Amino acid sequence: SKPVVVAIDGPAGSGKSSVSRATARALGFDYLDTGASYRALSWDLLDRGIDAAEVDRVIEELERFDFRIGTDPDDYYVRVGSTDVTDAIREPRVTAVVSLVARIPEVRRGLNERFRAIMAGTPKPGIVAEGRDITTVVAPDAPVRILLTASEEARMGRRSKELTSETAAAVGEALRTRDEADSRVVDFMNAADGVTTVDSTELDFDQTVEAVVEVVAQTT
Ligand code: C5P
Repeated sequence: SKPVVVAIDGPAGSGKSSVSRATARALGFDYLDTGASYRALSWDLLDRGIDAAEVDRVIEELERFDFRIGTDPDDYYVRVGSTDVTDAIREPRVTAVVSLVARIPEVRRGLNERFRAIMAGTPKPGIVAEGRDITTVVAPDAPVRILLTASEEARMGRRSKELTSETAAAVGEALRTRDEADSRVVDFMNAADGVTTVDSTELDFDQTVEAVVEVVAQTT
């Protein structure tokens, strides 16, 4: 039978990735980090010296872009060709350009096709897919659609926990700038019709996972 898709969207620093992965683990589902794909393409463009503004070259590169992403929540990796980029795609130089790459409509269409193929092809009973436009564009028919939010203060606080105060301020600023840029392309700050909001501001990590699993249990 068709795999159950759990679609989760939310802003940067909402804990989306770790919550989605833990939810997948709890349900015995696969896990798809769509942001990692935008990051992997951005890494690849930087590696080849292609500027995001050279849209024709970006589209050409997208056609031959060979990336693999681990969808087992216990075996997560991202590869471009034979290079493991799991850590490299988190580098600030990648984060700094990813919004420019993600706003190109052809890039979004091309990656969305790959996401849909990955979702349909999971060998597990379901897959948790997270990003910015999963509930609205990639899988609007998913039986479970969740917007994971948290107050800006909580999101900044979580992101900067391990950092010194100077870098925390810089990280907060970068996060705000990226959310602003991304919001111009897709709205992930407001829940679309039929999308359940889970606000994690007052919840710790385990409570947030429980809340998401509860929404899945109620909907499926
Ligand atoms: O989720 P993460 O912060 O890793 O996403 C990196 C970037 O990828 C976002 O800032 C956004 O520009 C882009 N993205 C997107 N649509 C998605 C997932 C990510 O545009 N579904």
